[in-house]
Amino acid sequence: MSLYDYPRYYDLVYGSDWKAEVDFLTGVFDRHVRGSTKRLLEPACGTGRLMFRLEREGYQVDGIDLSQNAVTYCNQRLLRHGFRSSARVADMTDFTVKSKYCAAFNTINSFRHLEKHTQARDHLACMAKAIRRGGVYILGLHLCPRFGEPVEEESWIARRGHLCVQTSMWLVERNLRKRFERFHMRYDIWTPTDHKTLDDEFNFRTYTRQQFDTLVSEIPEFEIEAMYDFSYDLNRPIKVDDHSEDVVYILKRV
Ligand SMILES: C[S@@+](CC[C@H](N)C(=O)[O-])C[C@H]1O[C@@H](n2cnc3c(N)ncnc32)[C@H](O)[C@@H]1O
Repeated sequence: MSLYDYPRYYDLVYGSDWKAEVDFLTGVFDRHVRGSTKRLLEPACGTGRLMFRLEREGYQVDGIDLSQNAVTYCNQRLLRHGFRSSARVADMTDFTVKSKYCAAFNTINSFRHLEKHTQARDHLACMAKAIRRGGVYILGLHLCPRFGEPVEEESWIARRGHLCVQTSMWLVERNLRKRFERFHMRYDIWTPTDHKTLDDEFNFRTYTRQQFDTLVSEIPEFEIEAMYDFSYDLNRPIKVDDHSEDVVYILKRV
């Protein structure tokens, strides 16, 4: 099982980060989507930590994800809050939609799970078909900077009630020529009476600024309209350069 198949822990580990992202996303819709924004899509939605909060803001949000456990968790929470169960199991490299969306978002590196060029290109091609003209795809990822060292280790603790999860992530291997980074991820899980660990490894495709630009240029329906970073500050659009690491691209559906 992947760590993504433990939605209760995933949602705790990433659960507290939603506010800045939701404010940023709604600000991007207002600024960058032509016309009004109502229908949204989140590819790789996971537990839907952003989906149900955007539903609360009045948007209609659909999600797709590979993990059945995450989709079930996501739909149960949506129903509990009085919304539609709007997540389904699908592969973000190969899906179709019944009607087009005003905007889509994919904020924290899930796109880099697509290990091959063909998968990344197929994903963007599916997204181009899923989003109406004038809409946007908000895509957040870490680039490999040409200068300076990228982050190789992270650890943080999250608590809810009697449950405490420490997440540790460290780089196992980076091969920029073959374009992958392998990270080990561990959850240390404590309850008052128990401690257990869950381990997994994730492969991420690597992108330099130029490699990402080249990929986008293969999908003529998308243009890079603006860039921000993971501070999610709409007042501070960035210029991506060879030092840039965390980038949120606003891809305009032309
Ligand atoms: C880091 S989580 C992000 C979840 C969610 N977007 C969020 O912000 O909390 C990455 C998710 O990508 C999903 N995933 C990975 N490859 C996928 C694919 N090819 N198609 C759909 N989902 C995928 C995993 O199952 C996992 O739930």
